Formats: sequence, structure tokens, C-alpha cells
Amino acid sequence: MRVAIIGQGYVGLTIAVGAAGAGHSVFGFDVNDGLVAELNAGRSHIEGISAEQLTYHLSSGAYKASSDAAILDGSEVIVIAVPTPLDHDRKPDLSYVHAAADLINQQIKTPALIINESTSYPGTLRKEIAARITGGVHLYASSPERVDPGNTEWGTKNTPRLIGGLTPAAVTKAREFYSSFCDTIIEVSSPEVAEAAKIFENTFRQVNIALVNEFAQISDALGFSSREVIEAAATKPYGFMAFNPGPGVGGHCIPVDPSYLAHVANEVGVPATFIKRANEVNLAMPAYVVKRVVASNGGSVKGKKVVVVGVSYKSNVADTRETPAAAVIDLLREQGAAVTWHDDLVSSWRGESSSPLAGADIAVVVTKHDGVDLAAITACGYVFDCTGSIADVDGI
Ligand SMILES: NC(=O)c1ccc[n+]([C@@H]2O[C@H](COP(=O)([O-])OP(=O)(O)OC[C@H]3O[C@@H](n4cnc5c(N)ncnc54)[C@H](O)[C@@H]3O)[C@@H](O)[C@H]2O)c1
Repeated sequence: MRVAIIGQGYVGLTIAVGAAGAGHSVFGFDVNDGLVAELNAGRSHIEGISAEQLTYHLSSGAYKASSDAAILDGSEVIVIAVPTPLDHDRKPDLSYVHAAADLINQQIKTPALIINESTSYPGTLRKEIAARITGGVHLYASSPERVDPGNTEWGTKNTPRLIGGLTPAAVTKAREFYSSFCDTIIEVSSPEVAEAAKIFENTFRQVNIALVNEFAQISDALGFSSREVIEAAATKPYGFMAFNPGPGVGGHCIPVDPSYLAHVANEVGVPATFIKRANEVNLAMPAYVVKRVVASNGGSVKGKKVVVVGVSYKSNVADTRETPAAAVIDLLREQGAAVTWHDDLVSSWRGESSSPLAGADIAVVVTKHDGVDLAAITACGYVFDCTGSIADVDGI
């Protein structure tokens, strides 16, 4: 099949390489000219897609990146994989999805299967995409992406794929496309069910992480380790699932997607109280971390050299979107600390560069990548570990 993918970020590039590997002819469209040039030079910007893979598909002619929208027409399958962030009021910002739909409306004259993989609330495919595309007779399906960047066990191939279509013909065509590179396809009765499943999965994680973050605070005040309690509880063979506390939540999924569900819940008059409370707890975690660090350092970190270790939102990825490290650093600076940060995967961020680990009075470990110099961390006078993976130091 000739396939066009709108957006060549984490999701779009992953699908592009999966589809190219299955023998499809793939065009990766992106509005970012610099990114397109990098991709066509064989340089991947995401974990999980190597330069070798990209170069292989570029040289075989199975993949090409482009910022020319004219390449979209003539494709049998068009996948939308664009950002779905929150606006300043933490409300869904569908401007990228609308721009992609408008682009399809202008460019695509030959009938195609249009799939949305971007995460959004139920009703997005029907009301925000299909309803805007009046210039052609197309099929429409929703297949929300579940990729977990950096996860080496579960990837595009073996993570079951949900499909919901506006018509049975759309489902059939979507199954044909995805079954060429995904092992398990699960059809649901409507695109709304597929869309809701994705945001409910992420809401489940958001709420459980908030619960365990609150529990960590209770445990600390009571004088025992929440992690030991969680480990003990997880020995129950049924009815319990372990989540671990941390400095807050980052990335695109957990901090953002539940607010899309809260938005539609609000529209139909049902308050999404768990989501609201979970957001409050998770967003307050950086302040809790800083409070603990200050308390353990005689009530003040003024003038202290603090290094924040790991500024991406999770280990072994370079993604800093919504990372709680930002708030941890800002709050420590508000307390008068001289804060630097160290991250081998993120060399520059917010106009600053990664600094060496050595010489700090205090190390606050937000994210721990494999290969970080543990000895250099523990050589700091005081260590606060948010990851639960460094023995015999303070932390959550
Ligand atoms: N990153 C993840 O782990 C993940 C996992 C599952 C689902 N998702 C969802 O997938 C969607 C995409 O996320 P992502 O992480 O790939 O985002 P990303 O920011 O990594 O990439 C999005 C790309 O889209 C491009 N873009 C924006 N507007 C465009 C337009 N009108 N036309 C063409 N290109 C355009 C941007 O330049 C960017 O390169 C979001 O809805 C996200 O919630 C992300």
C-alpha cells in the first residue's frame, strides 16, 4: 500500500518504520523542515528507531520524509499522528488535529482510509476529523497509539492494536493495514470505544500513580517505607497491581490525556473527580520533594550546590515533555539553591546544558538512566532519590 503519515514524531515515525518494514511504500509528512532533513539524512530523533533502520528503509525506497503536502494525495492509507496537548487552561488543544484534517481536505482527491492515531477524547474522529473533510469520499478509523518509548519488551508489533471504524469497510481496510505489521488486532464497535479505551488506560495509570504518591507521603510521616509496603502488598497473587511513587508524572500520556476525558465528562455533566484529584496530587509532588530535601538539610538549601540528576520524564529516554524535573529545579532555585542538572541523554534543555555530577552538596535524583555514574551521585554530601533504586539514601 502507499501510506502517508502526518507527523513524524514519536508515534508517526514508529508507525512509518513499522509499515515500511512490512513492505508498504511510506511517506512521512511533517511541517518541521529541519526534522524532515534529519530523517532523510538517516538520523533518527527517537529511541527505538535506529539510524541503521532508517537508512535501510531510505535506501530501499520504502520510506521518505517530506514537508511537501502534495505527497499526501494518491495514498491508500493516511495516518494522523500529531500532538494533542492542553492549552493554557489545561483544556484539549485540537488545533494540530484540525490542521491535519484541513490538510487532508485540501490535498486528498483520491479515496483513502484515514486513520487517527493521535490520542484524543471520544468523538474526535467523527466530529473533529471526518466532519471537517468534505472534499472526498473516504473511509475513517481510529486506532489510538499505545507505544511506550524506550520499552524494549512491548513495541508496535506485539502490543495489541485497537481499531474502531465509522463503517465496516473502514474496519476491514484498517485491519488489512495493521495486520501487516502488528500481531494482534482488536476490533471494537465504534471509534469512540477505541478513543475512550486509550484515555481510560492512561487515566487508570494517572489515578493509581497519584494514589501511591499520596501513600508515599503517609508512609513517610508514619515512619516506614512505602516501597517496602508496596512490595509486600504485591505478593498477593490477585487483586493488587503495584505502582511506584515518584517526583510527579511527565511525558505526553499520563499528565495530559486524562484531562481530555475530564473535558468530555464535563460536557455531559458528569464530574471527573478522580482525574481532578489525581492531577492535584501528581502536580504537587515536586513541591513535596523539595520540602523533604530542605527539611533534611537543616531547613535551608540557600547557597547550597544542588545537582538534579535525570531531567527527562522517565529512564533511558531523552523526552523532557511535562517532566517534573522542571518544577523541582525551579522550586529549589526559589529556595536560594545554586542548581545545575545532569542528564547524559538530554544535553541541552530550557537554554541550559547538562553539567558534571561532581562537586555538588546535594544530589536530587529525579530520573535514573542506565549507565549514570552512581558513585559520583553517592559522593555528594546528601542524596535524595525519587526513583527508589539507590540503596541507603533518603528519598521516596
Ligand atoms: N509519545 C508517546 O509516547 C505517545 C504514545 C501514545 C500516543 N501518543 C499520542 O500520539 C500523538 C502524537 O504524539 P507524538 O509523541 O508522536 O508527538 P511529537 O511531538 O513527538 O510529534 C508530532 C509531530 O507532528 C508534527 N506536526 C504537527 N502539526 C503537524 C501538521 N499539521 N502536519 C504535519 N505534521 C505536524 C510535529 O512537527 C511533530 O514532529 C499525540 O496525540 C500523543 O498523545 C504519544
